[in-house]
Amino acid sequence: MESELSYHAARALLEWHIELGATEAIGDLPVNRYEIPAAALAPKPAPVEAQSTAAPPIPQPMPEVDPVDVARAAAADAPDLRALEAAMADYPHCDLKMGARNLVFFDGNPAARVMIIGEAPGRDEDMQGKPFVGRAGQLLDRMLAAIGMARHADDPARAVYITNVLPWRPPQNRDPTPEEIAMLLPFVQRHVELVDPELVVLMGNTSCQAGLGRRGITRLRGTWTQAYGRPALPMFHPAGLLRNPHNKRHAWADLLELQARLEGEA
Ligand code: URA
Repeated sequence: MESELSYHAARALLEWHIELGATEAIGDLPVNRYEIPAAALAPKPAPVEAQSTAAPPIPQPMPEVDPVDVARAAAADAPDLRALEAAMADYPHCDLKMGARNLVFFDGNPAARVMIIGEAPGRDEDMQGKPFVGRAGQLLDRMLAAIGMARHADDPARAVYITNVLPWRPPQNRDPTPEEIAMLLPFVQRHVELVDPELVVLMGNTSCQAGLGRRGITRLRGTWTQAYGRPALPMFHPAGLLRNPHNKRHAWADLLELQARLEGEA
């Protein structure tokens, strides 16, 4: 009887957590936040006689900073990709970092002619620290293979370099906010400068928002434009293609367009 009760209590607790939005465990072991730390239980040392009569310092308010300016300065200071990744890891103004397991920086070949910019890591990417490794990523790999390309190809002409606008997973994969996109954009801009690809692919609306300042992927897709100072092709996001497979024919047309451009025909 007792185990049945505890089963129902545990289930009710789990359902309550899910209702609050906590759908995933981010640690392998549960943390008892009600536990009193040993240090707090230790007897307090006797107060030391005051050595000086000077007044304690008055806490000063933190100076207001613009997170976008901070990101711009940090990104500009990064001389290479490794330094850029470190600067992003140190960036203190994006709260997404607190709920993420890993910073997801890139996958693929840094010498590739094509750089693909997606939206943000999902669950699998957050766990593995690499972009596009879940279902959408597997579809992306099949799409690339259909035009003879692969993220890890040694030949830069066949390879791609993959990153995202956001390096940290938003909770429950929610859409990034305009503030998050704005504060991380200087890092994306520097990322493109350092990789220096010939062509950029903007995967989905968030990527178009960051690179073009516009959304509306259904209208934008398939038409070459300029982003980050180079030719850019907006395409449907593979996650969108999984939800709306009828759009795959458009994605196929866009892949052929990309291939033609690489072969100097477009
Ligand atoms: N969707 C993205 O935009 N990026 C990823 O890395 C995974 C899914």
